[in-house]
Order: sequence, then C-alpha cells, then structure tokens
Amino acid sequence: MNAERGRNVIVTGAADGIGLAVAERYALAGARVTMVDIAAERLYERVERLAARGSAVQGEVADMADAAAVRAAVARSVEAFGAPDVAISNAGIAPFVELLSCELEEWQRVVDVNMTGSFVFMQACIRSMIDAGVPGAVCATSSGAAFQGRVGGGAYSASKAGALMMTRVLAVEAGPYGIRVNSVAPGLVDHGFREGLGDFVPAEYSERAARLTPLEHRASASDIVDAVEFLCSERAAHVTGTYLRVDGGASVGQYGSAWSRQE
Ligand SMILES: NC(=O)c1ccc[n+]([C@@H]2O[C@H](COP(=O)([O-])OP(=O)(O)OC[C@H]3O[C@@H](n4cnc5c(N)ncnc54)[C@H](O)[C@@H]3O)[C@@H](O)[C@H]2O)c1
Repeated sequence: MNAERGRNVIVTGAADGIGLAVAERYALAGARVTMVDIAAERLYERVERLAARGSAVQGEVADMADAAAVRAAVARSVEAFGAPDVAISNAGIAPFVELLSCELEEWQRVVDVNMTGSFVFMQACIRSMIDAGVPGAVCATSSGAAFQGRVGGGAYSASKAGALMMTRVLAVEAGPYGIRVNSVAPGLVDHGFREGLGDFVPAEYSERAARLTPLEHRASASDIVDAVEFLCSERAAHVTGTYLRVDGGASVGQYGSAWSRQE
C-alpha cells in the first residue's frame, strides 16, 4: 500500500480511459476518491465496481462545460470527504474539426470542456484546499497537442495549450499556500479516446506514429497514471508549474531504430 492511503482525491473524466485508471489507482491504494464524469451510467457502474472491492468512492455527474455543475460536484466531494489532497483535471474531448471550416459552436464546446471546465474545476479545488489549509497537489492532463498542431486538431490544441498555461499561472498563485499545480502531456495512449480521437487520429496513422517514436510504442493509461501519481506525491514536493511529457520520446525525435533498420 502506498502513501495515498487516507487521502482525498477528485478526478474528472473518471468513467473511462486515463481518468478511470487514475481513480482506480488511488482508490485501490486506500484513498477516498470522487469520480466526476458526464456519462452517468458508465460512471455509476465504475463507482459500484470499485465500491464492491472495498474502496471509498463516490460518483458525481457533471458536464465540464457547466460551471455550476462542476462547482456543485466539488462541493459535494468536500462535504463527503473533506478538501481534496489531490485534484486531477482530466476530462477532455477531441473532435475532428478543421479550423478553416470550424463552426463557432464546435470551437466553443471544445474550449468550454477542455479549458474553461478545467479552470472552473481547478479553481474550486484549490479554493477548498486553501480554505481547509490543505497543501494539496493538482495535475491536469494536457497533451502533446498543446505543443504541436495537426489538421483537425486545432480547437483541441488551442484548448490544451491554454489549459497548460493556466496550470503554470495557478502554480504561481497557489504556491504560497503550499499547493502545487502541474500537468502531464501524453502522446498517443493505447486505449485511445472513447469519442473523437478515432477520427482525429486514424488507426493506421496511430500505428505508424507509434512505430516512429523512439520507444516504438504507445503509452498505456497506466504509464500516464505513474506520471500523475509522481507529480502529486511527496517525491515531487519541490516540483510545481511544470509539465511532464509521457510520449515515448515523440516530442524529441522520430524514427528510432525504424530509421537505422532501413534497407
Ligand atoms: N488518449 C490519448 O491518446 C490522449 C493523448 C493525449 C492527451 N489525452 C488527454 O487525456 C484526457 C483523458 O483522455 P482519454 O483518452 O482517457 O479519453 P476518454 O474519452 O477515454 O475518457 C474521457 C472521459 O471524459 C468524459 N468526458 C467527456 N466529456 C466530458 C464533459 N463534458 N464533462 C465531463 N466528463 C466528460 C468521458 O465521458 C470519458 O469518461 C483528456 O483530457 C485527453 O485530452 C489523451
């Protein structure tokens, strides 16, 4: 059992993918975990499954684009478990939409969920940490797309870049309270997005891109959780306002041995 026993953790986008893996990791290590997601049925199924294994978990249904719902979810979590020691802003969407033809509503939805939702969530969590005198840790799931563009991913990239900058400013503001704010920036992750990324990154591209990264494979959700857990742990006590790229080296170079193996 690790150091998370007895801590309060809140995770958004927790009904699937990386968020679910984060919630499971902390819950099974003995933390009290609030899982927030828009997909009620899937969320409650996951919550029940974890509760059946003896974990202290609660589910909160909220659309990240609905500020009142996000604030209410955080408030109910604080009521049930106390202020979070660890807050993970992870929910995100990545619809394929080219900027040159993007309708305002499509742009707005991506920004509302990925950037404004993350702002509202992190602000609510950090305020509750400050009120309770908890020197907590916050981690946002950013993306390699915050640094690099791809056709169809413009709104997503912009929202992730904005959210990333926000974590850095929050680190500056929350630092004096002993609260740390960081991000992880995954490259391609094995399980993929539930919605959106299938169009955004076609399977054959994803395969090819994975082969061309220095480590020659995609991350598993568990690789991302390892980075999140580190950044929110006491081992990262002096780390704030930074991002950790978990991308198999994709951001520093391509090809790896695929290049040297060329006939
Ligand atoms: N999968 C990847 O390759 C990848 C790569 C880089 C970054 N990321 C980031 O990681 C995070 C998690 O991605 P994932 O791959 O686990 O995605 P996923 O689609 O598997 O899971 C996302 C979860 O967020 C929930 N969600 C979606 N919209 C929501 C909303 N409006 N309000 C509340 N919940 C909402 C979904 O219901 C789902 O349970 C995202 O922020 C994504 O941008 C993913």
